[in-house]
Amino acid sequence: MNDKLDWIDRELAVVADSGLLRKLSVCAQGEKSTELKIAEKTYINFSSNDYLGLAAELVRAQEASPSEGQKWGSGASPLVTGRGEMHQQLEQALAKFKGTEAALSFSTGYAANIGAITSVTGNEDIILSDARNHASIIDGCRLSKATVQVYRHNDVDHLVELCKQSSGFRRKLIVTDSLFSMDGDIARLGSLVEISRQYQAILMVDEAHATGVYGETGRGLAQQLGCEDGVDISVGTMSKALGSVGGFVTGNQNLIDLLVNKARTYIYSTAMPHACARAGILALELVRKEPERREQLFRNVKYLTDRLVQKGALPDRPYTQIVPLIVGSPELSLARSKSLMRSGFYIPAIRPPTVPVGESLLRISLSSGHTTEQLDRLVSVLSE
Ligand SMILES: Cc1ncc(COP(=O)(O)O)c(C=O)c1O
Repeated sequence: MNDKLDWIDRELAVVADSGLLRKLSVCAQGEKSTELKIAEKTYINFSSNDYLGLAAELVRAQEASPSEGQKWGSGASPLVTGRGEMHQQLEQALAKFKGTEAALSFSTGYAANIGAITSVTGNEDIILSDARNHASIIDGCRLSKATVQVYRHNDVDHLVELCKQSSGFRRKLIVTDSLFSMDGDIARLGSLVEISRQYQAILMVDEAHATGVYGETGRGLAQQLGCEDGVDISVGTMSKALGSVGGFVTGNQNLIDLLVNKARTYIYSTAMPHACARAGILALELVRKEPERREQLFRNVKYLTDRLVQKGALPDRPYTQIVPLIVGSPELSLARSKSLMRSGFYIPAIRPPTVPVGESLLRISLSSGHTTEQLDRLVSVLSE
């Protein structure tokens, strides 16, 4: 035993004593897209971000038209030799999908957020960030060396107050998730656009959970709320409703040129596999051709939300595919999650530091593939 690492046992014991220890499990796809197998047991999966069931669909689509896109290792970072035709086609398809001048693909959404924030801000700037933003935004803010002010979640009055106090900086950046990943609530994008115009702030919106799901053509919540013109930097990921992996930034050509030259998570990291770039292209095609997937998802969202509200298991809330059941303590949320597993449902406990202390929750993620019968069974178990 290496005694320089003895402290790890003690540190893990502290984490375990607070009910916050994480353990890995091995998950496999069940027979249906909404089924999950862990240790030979099958659960109804209410924890996946594959909101449109595209992950399985992409395997079929790739097999139906094999191409250069099947290649895995890209061999180098994009500015060396890693960027191939698939990456170029993906970026063109992303720009077309989002209706922007240009797009840039990153290996993950995490890398896209960090790359974008650190490219547009530095130590002479200020970032105003929603208190519930995703960890990748928080880490981007930290790495940027800018002054960071966190405004209360979705509190636009607080944001205005902070904007008023933020003169004297070179640039201002307001940054928010559009659909918040743990609370499943929606940013007030219309107000953020107005505030960013009034205070000359750059507005960056992370549409990770909204891409493919919201808006007439699935571009995200800015499209749904009619305020795309006011968003300067839009970030997305292909790892959720688009069913594969890889992040992206869309915006003006000069923004993308800046990222190519400045975003360290782009420049110093191997380009995503060609096969992933191709999966992204195929997923965008499916989003375009099969709007019925998002229509079905929203029928499921409404069905489940209405019933849980009716039964008193959930307070009134917006219709979104992320439905949080607030429990409070990490121990209780773990116990509830285990009890749901015994009833055949996989709904993970979300604990600090992912959510604030005292706000542990069970996070239900809905998919277009869930059946009414699966939803009814869940309502009945949760109402008990
Ligand atoms: C809001 C938000 N942004 C960014 C990310 C990161 O995306 P990716 O999983 O592609 O790294 C996530 C993923 O959990 C997220 O929830």
